[in-house]
Amino acid sequence: MKICFLPDNLCTKPQRSGQSLLEISLAAGVDHTHACGGVGKCSTCRVMVLEGAERLLARNPTEQALAQRLGFGPEIRLACQTVPQGDLTLRRLVIDDEDLEILHFRLTASALPKIGVEKELAILFVDLRNFTPFSEALPAYDVMHLLERFFFLCGQQVKQAGGWIDNYMGDGFLALFDGENPKQKCQKALAAAQGVLAAMPGFNHYLAKVAPQFLKLGIGVHYGHLIQGEIGAGEQMREIVIGDAVNTASRIESATKVLGRPLLVSEEVREHLGPEFRFERVGEVTLKGKQGLFPLFCPVE
Ligand code: FES
Repeated sequence: MKICFLPDNLCTKPQRSGQSLLEISLAAGVDHTHACGGVGKCSTCRVMVLEGAERLLARNPTEQALAQRLGFGPEIRLACQTVPQGDLTLRRLVIDDEDLEILHFRLTASALPKIGVEKELAILFVDLRNFTPFSEALPAYDVMHLLERFFFLCGQQVKQAGGWIDNYMGDGFLALFDGENPKQKCQKALAAAQGVLAAMPGFNHYLAKVAPQFLKLGIGVHYGHLIQGEIGAGEQMREIVIGDAVNTASRIESATKVLGRPLLVSEEVREHLGPEFRFERVGEVTLKGKQGLFPLFCPVE
């Protein structure tokens, strides 16, 4: 049986049967962090299984309890609680004192942050056009009140469609949509986008009471892979999503200015939605930071 540890680039084998991964690594001289002494309490011995996961037994109750509390995915195992049954390649996840400090900070926080998870979601980017120059002439109270009202109205549409607003960015926001399959996720995002657009005349009508201005929206919808997790701890903890798909959704939203349409979706969204959803191909654009031309589409009523 061969057990390889990264980033140590060290392969070794058990000295006796029933040895845990932690015992094996320590016996081979790996500086494997194990703050609780290997009793399944601290999680600092955590490893990511890169190869051979199918040869591992299910978690024991001690590991299961901690893994559940910390939101570990199946690929993250506690080395002190895991006994290998065959060849494995693992990466230790607590490498130095800084890793240990961050972990300690997270574990002692009142609420535990979620471990990063990879997901395929539909992504909606919404931006209120020209709000900044418009807001400069308004008292701070009105600016905040109008934004609050706009976000409230959009939040209702997003929620109704089955999504959630993940992040507010000035006068725009990012919303995400999960579901049983890609089509359902895209369907929800499109419904939210159309709901937000349909609600805009009402918002502009209200706006007219405060200032003679008609505001427009830019909305981009994309589908793809992203990483969702939390950083920070305690009151500073916040959810983040990162990934190329998020950037692409933002670029699509920006392209609405160039193409003169308030709502544009990517080819991935159009394909997932299938032929019963009708779209017009509006044009092909280069998206900042990406190579090649990207066809963009807008829904046809
Ligand atoms: S060493 Fe503490 S949980 Fe494994």
